[in-house]
Amino acid sequence: MKHYLSVKDINSLPDWVSEARTLKENPTQFKALGAGKTICLLFFNNSLRTRLSTQKAAMNLGMEVMVMNFGNEGWALEFDDGTIMDQGKAEHIKEAAKVVSQYCDIIAIRAFAGLKDKAKDEAEEVLMGFKKYASVPIVNMESSVGHPLQALADAITLAEHNTKSKPKVVLSWAPHPKALPHAVANSFVEMMQLQDSEFVITHPKGYELNSEITKNIKIEYDQKKACENADFVYVKNWSSYSDYGKVVNQDTDWMFTKEKMGQAKFMHCLPVRRNVVVEDSVLDSEQSLVIEQANNRIYSAQLVLKKFLENHQE
Ligand code: CP
Repeated sequence: MKHYLSVKDINSLPDWVSEARTLKENPTQFKALGAGKTICLLFFNNSLRTRLSTQKAAMNLGMEVMVMNFGNEGWALEFDDGTIMDQGKAEHIKEAAKVVSQYCDIIAIRAFAGLKDKAKDEAEEVLMGFKKYASVPIVNMESSVGHPLQALADAITLAEHNTKSKPKVVLSWAPHPKALPHAVANSFVEMMQLQDSEFVITHPKGYELNSEITKNIKIEYDQKKACENADFVYVKNWSSYSDYGKVVNQDTDWMFTKEKMGQAKFMHCLPVRRNVVVEDSVLDSEQSLVIEQANNRIYSAQLVLKKFLENHQE
């Protein structure tokens, strides 16, 4: 693996989940592996879990960590070739990526979708710009189209709590006051396609995800019906993909409730808006796995970083 950019970079999900769970039993067992190595975390958008869990993962491996909030503090980057840079952009990705590569052994990047221009978002110019011009491995800490560290943490959480050979897993849309990206939902869908389950997606009409990602997956437009007898329900808001980036429905009936949950375990990547996306009684119940999902973000990141450090040794 040269980079960890999407769920497609996972060569064996069962092996990765198993190795991450072993790491979790003794998180500092490979502390010598990262001695003298540095990771640079570049944030073009806000974060709580991703920043701290990736930092913790690197520390568990003995690495040094440098963090930069690029969005607020870095020079505005130009990505197009041949541009006359006489406007607001002060630095080209060519120099920025090569310079940062000299300071560290791994670069991790968070750069969300702008939700204005589908083609621009799908080109993932920040992530792909660093991939093109950096000379060290790149880790995706949530890009325009994917959040593969979250999906790997979710796979670990599912494995820890699953008791069936083929559990019923539901991905449910829920309302939100703002237009949100598709990255978490996309990567969750891609991750679910790597394991055996009865997987159903439920959302109001108009919120279909990219059909290239959801192909062959059942979509049920009745949320209550979709959640019947579910073992796990993963709730997430996303904006419209066809009417790109728009909030086309805010039907509050789609808020996730205890009644809809039944006996299922509840999952959400966080942050979550209480009593808008999901009611308090779900989040505060024993069936909620959200805190454990956030904990597993450490071990998903640690596994990925460990693989790069081991590659470097070969
Ligand atoms: N789930 C997640 O990525 O959380 P943050 O946005 O707080 O990093």
